Amino acid sequence: MELDGYKIIVTGSARGMGAATVRAYVTAGARVIGMDLDQEAGERVARDATQAGPGSAGFMKVDVSKADEVTRAFDAAAEEMGGLDVLAHPAAIQRPGDASTVTVEDWDLMMAVNVRGTMLANQAAHRLMAPRKRGSIINFGSVSGLRPEPVAPAYSASKGAVHSWTRTAAAAWGADGVRVNAILPAIATPMYEEAKARMTEDQLTAHYWQNEQSIALGQKYGDPDRDLGPVMVFLASEASRFVTGQLLPVDGGQASVR
Ligand SMILES: NC(=O)c1ccc[n+]([C@@H]2O[C@H](COP(=O)([O-])OP(=O)(O)OC[C@H]3O[C@@H](n4cnc5c(N)ncnc54)[C@H](O)[C@@H]3O)[C@@H](O)[C@H]2O)c1
Repeated sequence: MELDGYKIIVTGSARGMGAATVRAYVTAGARVIGMDLDQEAGERVARDATQAGPGSAGFMKVDVSKADEVTRAFDAAAEEMGGLDVLAHPAAIQRPGDASTVTVEDWDLMMAVNVRGTMLANQAAHRLMAPRKRGSIINFGSVSGLRPEPVAPAYSASKGAVHSWTRTAAAAWGADGVRVNAILPAIATPMYEEAKARMTEDQLTAHYWQNEQSIALGQKYGDPDRDLGPVMVFLASEASRFVTGQLLPVDGGQASVR
C-alpha cells in the first residue's frame, strides 16, 4: 500500500502502459482517475482495477490535445478525488512514414497529441499541485526521440520535444515541489504490436537489429504490469522524492541515457 491515499490521474488509461499503470496504482492503494479517448475500454480497465482493489479507479473521456477538455477534466478529477498528487501521462499516438514523404497532417497530429497534449496535461497538473507544494508528473518519451527512427519521423521528433519539455518543466517547477520525469519504455503493448504489423519483412529485420537485439535482458520488449508497473509506483511515491528532470529508460538495457 505504498500509495495509500494518493490521488492520481493516468492518461492513455484504456490500454497498454496506461492500463497497466492504473492497475499498479490501485494495487498500491491509490484513488485513480483514468483518461482516454476510448470510453468503453477505459471504463472496463477502471472497473476491473477497482474490483481487484484495494484502491479504486474511475474514468473520464478526454482528448489530451484539446486545451479546454484537459482543463475541465483535470479540475473535475481533482475535485472528485480531493486533490492531485500524481499525473502519469502515457497518452500518445504513432503513425508510420519516412523523412522524405511525411505529411503535414501526420506531423501536426503527432505534435498535437504527443507534444501539445504533454504540455497541456502537465500545466493542468502543476496548477493543481503547486499550492500544496507537492506532486509528481511522469511523462513518456522514447528511444525514438534520442536516435534516428526511419519508419516514424514525426513520432520521433515529437518524443524529442517531450524530452526537452520534461527537463524544462522540472527546472521550472522544482521550487513548487513538483517533480517531472519521463519514462523511455520498451514494453510490449498494442502500439508496439500495431507498429510491427505495418512493417515489411526488411523493416522487421531492421527493427530486430535496431530495437530488440540490443535489449540486454532477454532481447524482447518487457511486460507492462511486471516490468513497468513497479517503476511507475516508485516515481509516484516519496521513494523518488529527490529525482526530477530525468529520462529513465525502462527497456531492459536497449538504450543508455544520461
Ligand atoms: N510500447 C513501447 O515500447 C513504447 C516505446 C517508446 C515509447 N512509448 C510511449 O509510451 C507511451 C505508452 O505507449 P503504449 O505502447 O502503451 O501505447 P498504446 O497505443 O497501447 O496506448 C496509448 C493510449 O493512449 C490513448 N490516446 C491516444 N490519443 C489520445 C488522446 N488524444 N487523448 C487521450 N488518449 C489518447 C489511446 O486511446 C490508447 O489507449 C506512449 O507515450 C508511447 O509513445 C512506447
